[in-house]
Amino acid sequence: MTKSQNNTPIAVGIDDGYAYTKIALPDGRLCAIPSRACIGQSSVTWINQAVQRVFEYETGDTTYSVGMVDGAPTRFEGYPVSGLNRVIVQHALQDIGLSGQTIHAVSGLPVNAFYRNNGELRREAIQKKQDSLKQSVHVRSEALPVGISFHEVIPEALAAWYDYVIVEQGGDAILDTDRMSVPVAIIDIGGRTTDYVVVKDQGIIHGSSGSLQCGMLDVKQKVADGIQERFDLETISEQRVAHALETNSVRLHGKDFDVGRLVDHAKKEVVERLLVETRRQLGMGIELDSILFVGGGTVALVEHISDWFPHQVIAEHPAFANARGMLKYLRYVCEGSMAA
Ligand SMILES: Nc1ncnc2c1ncn2[C@@H]1O[C@H](COP(=O)(O)OP(=O)(O)OP(=O)(O)O)[C@@H](O)[C@H]1O
Ligand SMILES: [Mg+2]
Repeated sequence: MTKSQNNTPIAVGIDDGYAYTKIALPDGRLCAIPSRACIGQSSVTWINQAVQRVFEYETGDTTYSVGMVDGAPTRFEGYPVSGLNRVIVQHALQDIGLSGQTIHAVSGLPVNAFYRNNGELRREAIQKKQDSLKQSVHVRSEALPVGISFHEVIPEALAAWYDYVIVEQGGDAILDTDRMSVPVAIIDIGGRTTDYVVVKDQGIIHGSSGSLQCGMLDVKQKVADGIQERFDLETISEQRVAHALETNSVRLHGKDFDVGRLVDHAKKEVVERLLVETRRQLGMGIELDSILFVGGGTVALVEHISDWFPHQVIAEHPAFANARGMLKYLRYVCEGSMAA
């Protein structure tokens, strides 16, 4: 378990996406859990607590089950400020061992939920998100809840830019002035959205930034539809589809079936949409110094996106770039000073 020194709140980066909730801690630990929960208590009694796989939480008078459940879809407008989001974040914090601790956190919103097209801040939405995660969550077990006493919200893909320009070296943080002074684009391929952010002279170029509602959850939906059609199924569980996407095979009636072609086809369809939007936003990126790919979709689609730009870079552990950047923003921009 992580202990805070002198009861000082622990700094935590929380990238609470529609597909996965990613956590970054100052000791370098990273953790991701599927953003998967459902309303109501689970109907399973766990005989051995050590293998418990469904956990119950209460917030705003509603009980939720998190873990190995068939999750309620997170793809709805209000997800970032919902009770569903709150219990999933609480579960991720419990999972990484922060039970009973107070934390300071930075989380994110998709670029178009954070800014209007003209670059104005969507203050109300940002405030709502800030307040939402600070609302209390009750853990329906002996574990103590994790309390969030400070919470700041930044645009998701911009977090990856902070991760790129703030470099940690031997306990110190240094601003990489070379990286900071050149125009850079970030492409964050996520579950529900793909975010674009262009940063130049430390400012966001709003004309080339925004979110496309397309990501790996679209691939998942296409795979689900394809499996249902091919095997003439009325329904298929979300967990089974997630497994099919990871392994290219689906187990039905006790037998494994290869669905690799179906998965590949679904990925290609989404990649085509992403490429069109990428060219629309960034062209060939001639005036950009580099294009940084982040997000879990970057991992899942890596072989399909490898030749989009001659000067593209894939972030280290791309799925965690935003969470790491949120943590760096919290530690070095909100709370501290940094050597330039
Ligand atoms: N290590 C990995 N290997 C393969 N695929 C992965 C990996 N991590 C994530 N993915 C895939 O990438 C998808 C998007 O993950 P990511 O965590 O970026 O989404 P998100 O941030 O929750 O979504 P959004 O940004 O839209 O809210 C996942 O649904 C999963 O299919
Ligand atoms: Mg994301």
